[in-house]
Amino acid sequence: MGIGKANRLARVFRPTDGFSVMLALDHGYALGPIKGLERPAEVIKTLQDHVDALMATRGVFNNCFTPDGRAGIVLRVSGAVTIAGPDLTNESLTATIDDALRLAADAVASSIFVGTDNERESIKNLARLVSACAPYDMPVLAVTAVGKDREKQFDSRYLALACRVAAEHGADMVKTYFSGDSFETVTRSCPVPIIIAGGPKLETEVDVFRMARAAMDQGARGIDMGRNVWQNANPVGMIKALDAIVHDGASVDDAVAIFNEVR
Ligand code: 5RP
Repeated sequence: MGIGKANRLARVFRPTDGFSVMLALDHGYALGPIKGLERPAEVIKTLQDHVDALMATRGVFNNCFTPDGRAGIVLRVSGAVTIAGPDLTNESLTATIDDALRLAADAVASSIFVGTDNERESIKNLARLVSACAPYDMPVLAVTAVGKDREKQFDSRYLALACRVAAEHGADMVKTYFSGDSFETVTRSCPVPIIIAGGPKLETEVDVFRMARAAMDQGARGIDMGRNVWQNANPVGMIKALDAIVHDGASVDDAVAIFNEVR
């Protein structure tokens, strides 16, 4: 690996342990101002100090982010479809390597929609992005998105296929959903680090901590969560508790105690 890519990845995965707590706040690119993310600047200001990296679009980084020279920048570069349109999976690349370099991004992110009518186009987007990023040592995060088909979110066979396909097309890291006890089959068969999304807000904080703990125990290299953090009434408590799970090996009970301390 080139030193440029290694340096950028060290701002995403904490060099002391190789794990990452990334905050996802790219949802507005397709969903608009969803609950908890109406004002991205406030979410970033509240949580920036507590994460390894932020994942957002260039619109949010350009308008809602005050650089601190510490938090890694993961730039979402696919989109051009919305929840109001006919098909959320019909994405194009929406920003270039020049845009990423101008932002001093540490990685760029693009979704692939395996098993949909748009799997070919979305995988081609990823492959083109990998090729465009290679001369600059810019890491690429593939997001194994499921569109509206929520059942796939919990199917390890689908996720193992999607993650492996992403890695085979050159992704340096893959973001996917947690699929329960068989998640290790997903991490074991993917040659690049896997981080997990949180998905829609779960009923309780404990459910989120259990998911994060189980994912880490089954080979995840971290988290890239959004709604379960900033839709919670205590987002700082959530991110600190999740940080302890990812970076300190905290148990679910420890995480609950940390969450309650921050209230
Ligand atoms: C969607 C994304 C989002 O960033 C992802 O869903 C993570 O956020 P959440 O934890 O809210 O699911 O990349 O394609």
